[in-house]
Amino acid sequence: MNTISVLLLLFLSVLDKVCSTPMCNNQCCRFVERFPGRLRRLREDYVQIRDFYEANDDLDTALLDQTIEDSFKTPFACHAMNSVLDFYLGTVLPAAIAGVSDDTKELKPYVESIQIIFDELKRDVTKCKKYFACQKQFDVLKLNATYNQLENKGVYKAMGELDVLFNYIESYLASKRHRNDDPVLS
Ligand SMILES: *[C@@H]1O[C@H](CO)[C@@H](O)[C@H](O)[C@H]1NC(C)=O
Repeated sequence: MNTISVLLLLFLSVLDKVCSTPMCNNQCCRFVERFPGRLRRLREDYVQIRDFYEANDDLDTALLDQTIEDSFKTPFACHAMNSVLDFYLGTVLPAAIAGVSDDTKELKPYVESIQIIFDELKRDVTKCKKYFACQKQFDVLKLNATYNQLENKGVYKAMGELDVLFNYIESYLASKRHRNDDPVLS
């Protein structure tokens, strides 16, 4: 499978998890419910251009690799999805449009259509951040704000929790060690 189809599958699985009830009383639920229609339009556009891009893709490395797939399955999936959409909207799709030549100009309307749908999708996901429980993977500003709220007690709190931090670091590095032992991944 190529990158755009993988991306579409990932979006669908995220949206599928968020809303599985047909009864909607808000715009975010309706957005999720109606997403299959947009996805169909994306696939219809894509089928018109896929052969060209696949035929010209001769690199073996995956761009939307396992790490990205995994991050679509975490509680931070919404943020991951927006970042990937940003990447396509800011970098990939403009390059695809700029790369259209006289010979391939019939591809352009389809790429532009994907761009428009991605743009709408990103706006809807942003609007529905609360609905999606959209969080950044880690926000040090929030940690710092909590620390500052504790005023002069903050330092005791933070120093007193160093052992917790050591535990976090230990298990994180232990999980890395396990991977590095795996001959397939190292
Ligand atoms: C944390 O808050 C302090 C006090 O407002 C500020 O001086 C510092 O730059 C902040 N650090 C970060 C990483 O935002």
